Amino acid sequence: MSLRDDAMKVRENAYAPYSKFKVGAAVRATDDIVHQGCNVENIAYPEGTCAEAGAIAAMCAAGGSRDIAEVYVIADSPTPVPPCGGCRQKLAEFGKADTPVTLATVDGAEFKTTIGDLLPGMFDASHMVRT
Ligand code: THU
Repeated sequence: MSLRDDAMKVRENAYAPYSKFKVGAAVRATDDIVHQGCNVENIAYPEGTCAEAGAIAAMCAAGGSRDIAEVYVIADSPTPVPPCGGCRQKLAEFGKADTPVTLATVDGAEFKTTIGDLLPGMFDASHMVRT
């Protein structure tokens, strides 16, 4: 299965009764294992979690590599779905600036970018050297 197939499939499991907007994410770690996540909403709206966060949590829980090699995110949106700001920071925690990210629509449109391009000027450990 391709990373797109994984993201498409897990998207079907999204719990999105409030927004009705189902998102699927697949991350391939550097040990070649693919981890999937979908958005999981909550009646207390801010408690919902994004698909990317779910995939990252699955990767950590699996106990293998926690270094992201590639990311694929898909939704039924008119244009390829962009990760929210928080998810950009979460992806940056486990990937590199040049880690490829594909944003996609279920219709087949794709936009290829990188973690670095999604989060220019990111907060990272270099800002904490005086601590
Ligand atoms: N959402 C994601 O899961 N990932 C994204 O990249 C964008 C937004 C979810 C959060 C919420 O459940 C729904 O989409 C609408 O914002």
